[in-house]
Amino acid sequence: MKNDVAATAHAGAARRMAADAAGVAEAARILRGGGLVAFPTETVYGLGADATSEAAVARVYRAKGRPAFNPLIAHVATLAAAQEQGIFSSEAALLAKSFWPGPLTLVVPLAAQATVCALARAGQDTIALRIPSHPAALALIAAAGRPLAAPSANRSGRVSPVAAAHVAQDIGGEIDLILDGGPCSLGLESTIIGCLEGPPRLLRPGGIPRAAIEAALGFSLAGPWQESCSPEDIRSPGALASHYAPRARLRLEATTLDAGEAGLDFGGRFPAGANVRDLSPSRDLSEAAANLFAFLRELDALGASCIAVAPIPGEGLGEAINDRLKRAAAPRA
Ligand code: TXA
Ligand code: MG
Repeated sequence: MKNDVAATAHAGAARRMAADAAGVAEAARILRGGGLVAFPTETVYGLGADATSEAAVARVYRAKGRPAFNPLIAHVATLAAAQEQGIFSSEAALLAKSFWPGPLTLVVPLAAQATVCALARAGQDTIALRIPSHPAALALIAAAGRPLAAPSANRSGRVSPVAAAHVAQDIGGEIDLILDGGPCSLGLESTIIGCLEGPPRLLRPGGIPRAAIEAALGFSLAGPWQESCSPEDIRSPGALASHYAPRARLRLEATTLDAGEAGLDFGGRFPAGANVRDLSPSRDLSEAAANLFAFLRELDALGASCIAVAPIPGEGLGEAINDRLKRAAAPRA
């Protein structure tokens, strides 16, 4: 029955179902048949496929327009399932116990008995694993009965989706079902830590602040945002310079709003108006993270050629927020 669902995939708008028991059961059926389902997680919406099927995973790369050298995260529901796919050092195990389920992805060496296909790993001998905390995501992985490869459910290089409507706008015509679980609570992708040779490294700042991970480990993380590391070391192609990009140009660290610009504010710096969204009037970084991608989409839709972005503090979730803004502002390839 493997090809049934894939063969009947249709152009046009994707079906949408609520992320309840019936929706999860239907989504699992589609995934087991090789289809594509977008589903909510606590970070952003994922575009899920059976990670053990080369054919299903090939559809993910096609739907996103994602280069096949950029590997996918395999989502699992239990630590035992993760340890079937990857080899956990003591540090990786400590991080898994401290932060799973939750917005942490661990890149570890591939286990000999791993079932995640080579295409999902982009041929690497490492694997990125995550146990999400969103109840519908966990229920879906369990019901599918296999690891789910799931990149963010946006067209490659664009802003990540934090609502079902964003998925529908970006790739609705390419997928079989969208499970609608409402807005994502965190709104920023997972933090990615590489646990390979040497001490754990920060590969992508995200929903768990660096300081929380350092507190669990008891030492400082090396990461691409420290001068000791060269960009070639990153091993995470999603850390490509231009990513998370709206159509408009971004002007960062803006302290005033110029004529004709849209404004992405923080803490009430710009005059309020239809062309301004304040990520957090009370300067709360969690609120800012949750609003970031939705506000970028809204401002982009206004059609301004430039979005001025107010300065945002770099501590806590601010590291990941500033990382995404810097990439969104980078020159496009
Ligand atoms: O929060 C998230 O992580 C979301 C939700 C859906 O789980 N997923 C997500 O996936 O952000 P994606 O594909 O947009 O970003 C995954 C990142 C990419 O930058 C990719 O290069 C990196 O993970 N990655 C995947 N496998 C890797 C590996 N073996 N080694 C290094 N980096 C890897
Ligand atoms: Mg992404």
